[in-house]
Amino acid sequence: MVLAIGSDHGGVHLKDEIKHYFTENDIEFFDFGAQVGESVDYPDVAKKLAVAVADGTYERGILICGTGIGVSISANKVHGIRAALCTDVYSAQMAREHNDANILTLGERVTGPGLALMIVETWLNTAFAGGRHARRVNKIMEIEQNR
Ligand code: RB5
Repeated sequence: MVLAIGSDHGGVHLKDEIKHYFTENDIEFFDFGAQVGESVDYPDVAKKLAVAVADGTYERGILICGTGIGVSISANKVHGIRAALCTDVYSAQMAREHNDANILTLGERVTGPGLALMIVETWLNTAFAGGRHARRVNKIMEIEQNR
């Protein structure tokens, strides 16, 4: 699986930590920016990455801003996206098992790098449980079809 990763200027340092973790663990990724020193409006990078996940170019993605909130709200406007803002490992596990979250969002100004990497690792290595959760996720996706 090739992962998509992106951030605004508020998340660029945590993004670099996660990219380093990917490289050390032979995980392939594509970086949607921003670069260090560049100021980027979070909806722009969130939209680009979310569209690429929704159209199947990437199976899953990670978005980071200062709080994780702006990229989460933005990504969830794209049909087919289930972006989950996680600040703890339990939520990261449940976001995959119960919600089949295809985008993880993180806040660099909220979550330190050690915990963030544990959240990323858990989110990457947890499968969707299916069953009754599939029925519920289908109901989420029906909401956007009926708008
Ligand atoms: C940028 O300063 C900041 O507003 C952004 O990174 C994010 O926290 C928004 O939700």
